[in-house]
Amino acid sequence: MVSTLLPTLSLPVSRATAFLLGTPLKSFRSHHPLLRSFLASASSLSSPPTPRSLVTMASAAIPARRDLLMLGIETSCDDTAAAVVRGDGEILSQAIASQSDLLVKWGGVAPKMAEEAHALAIDQVVQKALDDANVSESDLSAVAVTIGPGLSLCLRVGVHKARKIAKVFHLPIVGVHHMEAHALVSRLVNKDLDYPFLALLISGGHNLLVLAQNLGEYVQLGTTIDDAIGEAYDKSARWLGLDIRKGGGPALEELALEGDPNSINFRVPMRQHKDCNFSYAGLKTQVRLAIESRNLCTDDIPISSATEEDRQLRANIAASFQRIAVLHLEDRCQRAVEWALKMEPSIKHFVVSGGVASNQYVRAHLNHIAEKNGLQLVSPPPSLCTDNGVMIAWTGIEHFLAGRFEDPPPADEPDDMQYELRPRWPLGEEYSEGRSVSRSLRTARIHPSLTSMTKSSRN
Ligand code: KG4
Ligand code: ZN
Repeated sequence: MVSTLLPTLSLPVSRATAFLLGTPLKSFRSHHPLLRSFLASASSLSSPPTPRSLVTMASAAIPARRDLLMLGIETSCDDTAAAVVRGDGEILSQAIASQSDLLVKWGGVAPKMAEEAHALAIDQVVQKALDDANVSESDLSAVAVTIGPGLSLCLRVGVHKARKIAKVFHLPIVGVHHMEAHALVSRLVNKDLDYPFLALLISGGHNLLVLAQNLGEYVQLGTTIDDAIGEAYDKSARWLGLDIRKGGGPALEELALEGDPNSINFRVPMRQHKDCNFSYAGLKTQVRLAIESRNLCTDDIPISSATEEDRQLRANIAASFQRIAVLHLEDRCQRAVEWALKMEPSIKHFVVSGGVASNQYVRAHLNHIAEKNGLQLVSPPPSLCTDNGVMIAWTGIEHFLAGRFEDPPPADEPDDMQYELRPRWPLGEEYSEGRSVSRSLRTARIHPSLTSMTKSSRN
């Protein structure tokens, strides 16, 4: 049996949307009196809006709804996270269990191990979030949970937990797109941030440039054709023999402070491609070659035992890598600003979020791009840039208030229910100018984009 939270691939988009992004408000209202007051204000959002009114309504969708209490659950990758957030954006709690030991041991995320670690941590993490918020499940208005993109095995742990709570306490569920959550948490930290805005989302698995036109509606200006920047930081840190228990990115950022960023001439990727796509696989290889050609025994000698000269060489590689990695971001972001302003001249904000956005060098350089173009940079504090439960709860709140959520699971739903998840789930369609000849998009088993679902849910 497949849950209605996650529709089967064979469903046409319009039907899938009805199942997936929310039960219509009317049918829900009848058996959920608790939510009547929220829905009264949200119901206007369920009728098909004109393009102009979308902007106004988007700002109205951040209400002072202190009574709304959302639990957010995130298990898409290597962090088990949960948080309780009020409808007005007050963060009541956040709890997180990271799998750093596993990352060190396996050199990356091993899906089966990650699944087990999530399964071991999830009950405690959710309980801690509830305890720290001083609430119980029965106080919640709804549960938001990441349903993609990410590793199916890992996503399933969070969805299973969310449905269990929702079933017992008769709560609606909001299925959240992980990358949308990275973008939208910026609206929690900056209440002036309204649509349309440009967003760069940089994490371990994704490099996305999107134009956010409205809640759930994105134009994808660029993506990576191979690796994401976070993957390049992580591998480089590992190859340089750094202590990656707190993450490869932070370790490399720290060492780079000691190095000369101009000491090694790494090539900036994709300069010949006049688009907004990214590529970090080649830069990774350049780092590997730089280490090998200098005969640094980084596999055997960790940085803590390196000689002063060896440490300086490693720091130079780290700093030079970081300079070029970020220069590549700057190139693509400058072009994306131009494209975005052509489509939406009213844009005022440039959002930078995702784990890599917690890097101070990255933030400073992208702030420069924002200022140069008369935009305001909005980047959440580091703890909200890396994976967390708050961003899921907040995105759940935004969709919930827009009327996109699912009914509580039926009381007889079996505990071993198999849910269909969305490991590969685009945020939006590609901007036509952005199609790179070098793109080799694997299209198998990709779900309809969030944007196409949002749009068809209105029809
Ligand atoms: O968003 P995130 O927490 O998880 C994913 O969705 O992937 O991003 C994790 C990525 C990792 O590659 C991590 O090394 C990177 O973000 N990261 C950083 C920094 N902090 C985290 N990269 C560079 N500098 C940092 N300070
Ligand atoms: Zn993430």
